[in-house]
Amino acid sequence: MPSTIYKLGLILALQAAGLLAVHPISETPSLSCWLVEDIAATESKPRSVQQTRVLVQFTDANGLTQSPPATTDPGTLLFYVFDPSGKLSLDFTFCEITYHLPQEAFMKWTRSLTAEGISTPALGKAWYTLAAGNHLDGRAVSLVLGPLGDKKDHLSVSLAVYSASATLHAHLGKPLSVPCTMWRGHQPRFSVEWRHRALGDGSLLYAYDGWKDKIEDRVPNCHLNFSALHNEGDASLLIENVEISHQGTLLCTVYLPYLRAQREIQLVVTARPQVTLQPAPLLARPGEEVTLACDISHFHPLEILVDFLVQLPGESHPTLLTGSTLSAHTHNHDGTYSITAYQRMIASDNLHGARYFCRVSHVSAAKGISSSQMLRVAGVSGPSLEDVMILFLTALFLYGTLSYLRKKVVSLNGSHEELKAQKNKSE
Ligand SMILES: *[C@@H]1O[C@H](CO)[C@@H](O)[C@H](O)[C@H]1NC(C)=O
Ligand SMILES: *[C@@H]1O[C@H](CO)[C@@H](O)[C@H](O)[C@H]1NC(C)=O
Repeated sequence: MPSTIYKLGLILALQAAGLLAVHPISETPSLSCWLVEDIAATESKPRSVQQTRVLVQFTDANGLTQSPPATTDPGTLLFYVFDPSGKLSLDFTFCEITYHLPQEAFMKWTRSLTAEGISTPALGKAWYTLAAGNHLDGRAVSLVLGPLGDKKDHLSVSLAVYSASATLHAHLGKPLSVPCTMWRGHQPRFSVEWRHRALGDGSLLYAYDGWKDKIEDRVPNCHLNFSALHNEGDASLLIENVEISHQGTLLCTVYLPYLRAQREIQLVVTARPQVTLQPAPLLARPGEEVTLACDISHFHPLEILVDFLVQLPGESHPTLLTGSTLSAHTHNHDGTYSITAYQRMIASDNLHGARYFCRVSHVSAAKGISSSQMLRVAGVSGPSLEDVMILFLTALFLYGTLSYLRKKVVSLNGSHEELKAQKNKSE
């Protein structure tokens, strides 16, 4: 059986390739980042951005690495980072480092953090913000790196703010938790701030001073879970009832004395449309032009795809129709949209029993939404599936009734006989 042997060989080769993919031969134990610096304009050069490659090598609390430093190209910097937050991951697909300038923040909800005016000499050294994440699963983290010991290239995570997703889809009218968690070591002084930004407009949603345990500002409908915040660092924003106006960027900012880190979460608010295909019922005379209207109402966001399909009698799959048109959309007062799609067709005898579909593809419905109507052309005879079903059910009902009556008669006759027999005995 040469073909079987050939197949077996192919399967083995594929398995070997699979094993190689799961266990790469060489591993790089460092995270590749870019240090991004703003270079001020000089007389000869305009302002510019300089990018330097940085390899982040993980270390323990003493700045010692398990593996020897990776060999690096000249021009690549090596940072030795101790990460007690455990939030830095080797599988991050992007990583950017910028200089962080420790400074006091003067909002009402951050003043208590630096009220004692004690700043450590370490604040005078180089500090960095590292923003990294994984494009594939949406995890992202923003870290503040401070000095570890005396060496310039040895750093330690002082604050981490992370969230499991960078983009969130939320259903209109439903409650939502916008994820944001922090790690702050043993620092007892902190503040949490949530902002909303859409089309350049910013607004404060929540401001909480964790040191004074005081809500300094909040909009109705938004909450924090304080036990989760103080015990687990969970600063997720709980929205009672999602509105279209919540769509945009939500910014979670955590302040420690002189330091801050921020995460952005994109929120897309979705509303699932109601889809109805008109006219219902769908009746026409042979040769009559019929316009199918598909009403799609109260959906969000606006991007939507509408198709008309027809499944002819005896066919197993519907086929796509061409030439449909869309109305202009209307904007409802709750922020959702409505639209109508039209499709014309001419009724004919052979379309009797055809099923017309309006199929809507929208982000709010993973499997799509359909509405359909069966066309009945006047004057075309022959039982449809429904007619057959009705005939069958009627027959079933008649059969049941008749057999019930027959049993009744038999049992009556039987009881007569029994009575007779009893009478004979007693005589
Ligand atoms: C707050 O968070 C804790 C976990 O820390 C959880 O058990 C509790 O149910 C949460 N409360 C609310 C109101 O969600
Ligand atoms: C009822 O019983 C009688 C005799 O006992 C019989 O002659 C008659 O055929 C029976 N009728 C029916 C409907 O079974």
